[in-house]
Amino acid sequence: MKLVHTKEALKEAISLQKEVGNSIGFVPTMGALHRGHLSLMKQAGEQTGFVVVSIFVNPTQFNNKSDLDNYPRNLNADLAMLKNTPCELVFAPSANEMYPEEDTRQFNFGKLGEVMEGEHRPGHFNGVAQIVSKLFDAVQPDKAFFGMKDFQQLAIIQNMTTQLGYHTEIVPCDIVREPDGLAMSSRNKRLTAEQQKNATVISKTLFEAVKKTPDSSVDEIKNWVVSTIDANPYLETEYFDIVDNKTLQSITHWNEAVNKIGCIAVYCGEVRLIDNVKF
Ligand code: PAF
Repeated sequence: MKLVHTKEALKEAISLQKEVGNSIGFVPTMGALHRGHLSLMKQAGEQTGFVVVSIFVNPTQFNNKSDLDNYPRNLNADLAMLKNTPCELVFAPSANEMYPEEDTRQFNFGKLGEVMEGEHRPGHFNGVAQIVSKLFDAVQPDKAFFGMKDFQQLAIIQNMTTQLGYHTEIVPCDIVREPDGLAMSSRNKRLTAEQQKNATVISKTLFEAVKKTPDSSVDEIKNWVVSTIDANPYLETEYFDIVDNKTLQSITHWNEAVNKIGCIAVYCGEVRLIDNVKF
């Protein structure tokens, strides 16, 4: 496995692979790798000839400075985790390498970007689109792998890929959970053992909510999820919504969408966790 820090070295290593006919699989990450990331790499290894992983904590997607400052960073631990994966090239650039000058591009994702994460984290998806487009420009991947825990991010990236005319196939990958149901996230590393135990209420409540349909109305389920989670003293729901999984717009009746997904953001102390479940 090779580690590079510059776009130039990255492009050189990738063009050698393209010359020998390898397809490029790309897994962009912000490091603090966990089993969820490893499952993306496994799928990238199964579906492409050469797997590239980027590790970069992207400042432009953080709308909260303390969240950016507290984001876990440990390149050596990440490299150790990558050793037994199909990853062959790691790109770990500096902020200056990715943003030699300010990126002033403003993306427009319409209603897709205005709800849920878009509403509660202004500018977040613009920053995600900035960095993912820069990474796609540098890596030119045939396929890029993204986890479905960040369901709205996936929709935004699919939209960006179409808007900018990339020929990259976006591959959505299932959420990986701890045995107790907690969705794996780099942010889980910031939870105390006690918080982690209580955070399992999030996924348990979502799974329970699915079982309550279709006997309960959409509004009843939404209210029940929020009140059940907020009854736990460790947790505070920021939003929970049941949306059409294509448009991401809120529904009020079960028959308003063919495929529905319930998306949630919850604070556990200072740590913001997101999760989702199909309805
Ligand atoms: O999902 C993430 O880890 C990040 O948002 C991404 C896609 C690597 C862009 O910084």
